[in-house]
Amino acid sequence: PPGPASNGGAITAGLIPLPVLASTDESASYSVTAATRIVTGPGAGAEAVGDDLAALLRPATGFPLAVSSGDADSTPANSIVLRLGNGSASATSSTLGDEGYDLTVSKSGVLIVANKAAGLFHGIQTLRQLLPASVEATSAQPGPWRVTGGQIVDYPHYAYRGAMLDVTRHFFPVPDVERYIDELALYKVNMLHLHLSDDQGWRIAVDAWPNLALHGGSSEVGNRDKGGYYTKADYSAIVAYAQAHFITVVPEIDTPSHTNAALSSYPELNCDGVAPPVYTGENVGFSSLCVNKAITYTFLDDVVAELAALTPGPYIHLGGDEAHSTSASDYVTFVQKAQAIVEAHGKQLMGWAEISAAKLDPGTVAEYWNFNDHGASETNATRQGVKIVAAPADHAYLDQKYDAQTTLGLNWAGDIEVEDAYAWDPADGGRVSDSDVLGVEGPLWSETLHTMADIEYMAWPRMAGL
Ligand code: ACM
Repeated sequence: PPGPASNGGAITAGLIPLPVLASTDESASYSVTAATRIVTGPGAGAEAVGDDLAALLRPATGFPLAVSSGDADSTPANSIVLRLGNGSASATSSTLGDEGYDLTVSKSGVLIVANKAAGLFHGIQTLRQLLPASVEATSAQPGPWRVTGGQIVDYPHYAYRGAMLDVTRHFFPVPDVERYIDELALYKVNMLHLHLSDDQGWRIAVDAWPNLALHGGSSEVGNRDKGGYYTKADYSAIVAYAQAHFITVVPEIDTPSHTNAALSSYPELNCDGVAPPVYTGENVGFSSLCVNKAITYTFLDDVVAELAALTPGPYIHLGGDEAHSTSASDYVTFVQKAQAIVEAHGKQLMGWAEISAAKLDPGTVAEYWNFNDHGASETNATRQGVKIVAAPADHAYLDQKYDAQTTLGLNWAGDIEVEDAYAWDPADGGRVSDSDVLGVEGPLWSETLHTMADIEYMAWPRMAGL
């Protein structure tokens, strides 16, 4: 049977994340050649994953890599076989779960077995990493395309493996988000949290409140490019692209603070009935929805209804951070009403862990970011039976500088070197139990970021470390 994975020049060399179990058999190494075929078994989604693999390997190898389906139960020579169900002797189906896979490299080829298409998809990400790095090139490379022999059995420790992208402080168009999805998929990230509204911009069209996008979407930090927003078709394209990469989108509308773009779009949302101007600075905590006005909840219900209709995933994130202009009692009132609205639309509330000041329902998820509270907001949540997504700013924030030489980013949480992003404990040194941790997330705030190159400079390699 496979032993614990280690990284000493074995089959696992270069794999990120490290798989659960691995064993190396140099005598069973295999090379992809011009005659290699991809064979997919029957079952939902296997063929699409086979097509994905062929599309990934064709440019650099220059090989045809024909994909055929239906005969994956036998293992034809010189083939990469993707098979659903029928787990191998060494790994039961229940161990692999919905996202795990069992990958065997033998002289005759590669066999990947999984219960679900998501597992096959993760298996082909591992295969990409087992091949020479030049397989990622977009033009033909010399090869050879050798894979070390052996077996890998892998499944995730955490159900939620997320990245967050702030498209408010600066707007990023659909192709940028899709490129980020491509990159995240290689590391088996399965959740993409999009921060869609803040003081500086509102980035998603809402039919019932059109000024949110038309006016609230017209600004950003510094206002160089005047913001932008996703039409519903744009947003659905992102959701579908993410789904095709087995990534679930979590949309966030930040409330009750971080709402200047909404307050600027509709005077009636303000307690005094006067709309403030758009905001292009970098301060936080100065805005608040009007907690005691009925129209606030009409607005929230309309927005959540339209967002829920665009969201196949379970979560709607309603922010809740840094509500410095909302009284403590108003804040609790607001969070409980917001939670009820999300649940009425068939979704679970997700929020920054400040929401744990309110009475939360068991399906709600609290995202812990503010390490300066020394765990108070996360333990307030876990004491209520609410699960945590760990995103402590001093380890997980991808917008913080690496060091004093970093030209982009902020550093209020301190410099975050690659090692800091890699070596930390999502259970916060035992402050919460591992079973309270739904997963981890790497937030990338965009006050200082304008381009995809800026995103990549900050995210990689730290997101891989997470
Ligand atoms: C946050 O960084 N205010 C969630």
